[in-house]
Amino acid sequence: PRTIYLTRHGESEQNLEGRIGGDSDLSARGRQYGNALSQFIISQNIPHLRVWTSWLKRTIQTVSGIPAPQERWKALNEIDAGICEEMTYEEIASKYPDDFAARDQNKFTYRYPRGESYEDLVARLEPVIMELERQGNVLVVSHQAVIRCLLAYFTDKSSELDLTNGNWDSNGFVDDDDNSRSLDELPYLEVPLHTVIKLTPVAYGCRMELLKLPI
Ligand code: G3H
Repeated sequence: PRTIYLTRHGESEQNLEGRIGGDSDLSARGRQYGNALSQFIISQNIPHLRVWTSWLKRTIQTVSGIPAPQERWKALNEIDAGICEEMTYEEIASKYPDDFAARDQNKFTYRYPRGESYEDLVARLEPVIMELERQGNVLVVSHQAVIRCLLAYFTDKSSELDLTNGNWDSNGFVDDDDNSRSLDELPYLEVPLHTVIKLTPVAYGCRMELLKLPI
């Protein structure tokens, strides 16, 4: 049985300023997380581990100390916030109030002008997921919005997120008292910084553990 480890990059300079998107370096604390993550991964002695990152500096810097084969995926880049890239939420609310309100109304389908929606992200991630399904032990170091989509897929596979017809769709989704989760909730899943999410396959789906690393 293989394990998938998911984590966000360490805190970046732009995280510190509350700016979304961009391609900034890690902050000092973010570099500490990179060290803690390397130590954690080394201590786990994971056979044939592969490390996947996005193309952005903050994910690549986070794994720089991990002695394992690495691959970069552009498809693991953060959601493209288009005209809102590198702005704070306050700046977006004051400069583009209609967009800000529209996103709040339907965060899953809202597409940033000249950017992406969560729905777009789910489609972009499909090849990554197909390949992840074929791999052994993998550490994926990516971004908040992307990790939300991967988490939704791996922890709620059996319900609404069917990888069929080249897309995940919501056909057949039953919103009852099992623990299925609607796509509306996906953009709000908690993915804290400086935490490793460990996914281990069980009979149906994955067991999830959250490991907050001390930094
Ligand atoms: O833009 C970057 C964030 O990771 C996405 O967060 O979709 O909650 O605004 P948000």
